[in-house]
Amino acid sequence: MRIATTLLIPAALMIGASCSSSTSAAPKPAAAPAPTAVAPAAGAPAAAGGRGAAPPPLTLEQRTARADSITAARAVYVKQVMASIAGKENLPAGEVFKNIQLMKSVPAGQLVTVMDQGIGRGTGKGCNDCHITTDWASDTLARKKTARTMMGIVNDINMTLLPKMGPGRGGAPRTIQCLTCHRGGQAGRNVTIP
Ligand code: HEC
Ligand code: HEC
Repeated sequence: MRIATTLLIPAALMIGASCSSSTSAAPKPAAAPAPTAVAPAAGAPAAAGGRGAAPPPLTLEQRTARADSITAARAVYVKQVMASIAGKENLPAGEVFKNIQLMKSVPAGQLVTVMDQGIGRGTGKGCNDCHITTDWASDTLARKKTARTMMGIVNDINMTLLPKMGPGRGGAPRTIQCLTCHRGGQAGRNVTIP
């Protein structure tokens, strides 16, 4: 696919995660509950009319607990995948993994960091929301395919549209990332972006 995509995506997705440029697992919040342990907020009855009633908003504590638990669950998978590619972290992802269509030339270890810090954190999702975790290469889940489209959108905006505005503050390129729109999964409360 386009070279630009392979070059750009990691940089764009990594913004905001610059403090952890290593590919080791993200720091784990202490004793987070199992990923599924956080119950939705007490079930209020559906709002009258309109399309599907939105669940009641989570409290700040509930949101934090949910995010912590998803982050901890991702860290477990990151460790697992990193162990499975030990010694090959710096080889191109396209050679190490089976089904890379966009990020072929990104180092394999860095791809995993992008998955965790850029994509997972940015959308507030767990690895298992997009992947069959016993077969990472599988495109079975629709969300993984949507995510690929989204990566293309982010890339086009960063490579083609934003540069028309000229450099940003301090001469740095202007970029957006998953987090810009998805707000770590919080956007869905008020707008339609999940
Ligand atoms: C929002 C969806 C999404 C989430 C969440 C996500 N991924 Fe991915 N993942 C993708 C997409 C899309 C690709 C394919 C990228 C490409 O084609 O360049 C991919 C590719 C991969 C691959 C390469 C598999 C192969 O053999 O081709 C691995 C390994 C992987 N992801 C691990 C993870 C891990 C570990 C996590 C959690 C820390 C994670 N992913 C979270 C969407 C996601
Ligand atoms: C410019 C804003 C924007 C950016 C940046 C963006 N998205 Fe999206 N995303 C959207 C919109 C809009 C939708 C559709 C929302 C709807 O249908 O209500 C969407 C939907 C999705 C969905 C399908 C809904 C779901 O939860 O299954 C996934 C997955 C997704 N985005 C992943 C990503 C990933 C991964 C990135 C970063 C590579 C990203 N998005 C960057 C705006 C954005």
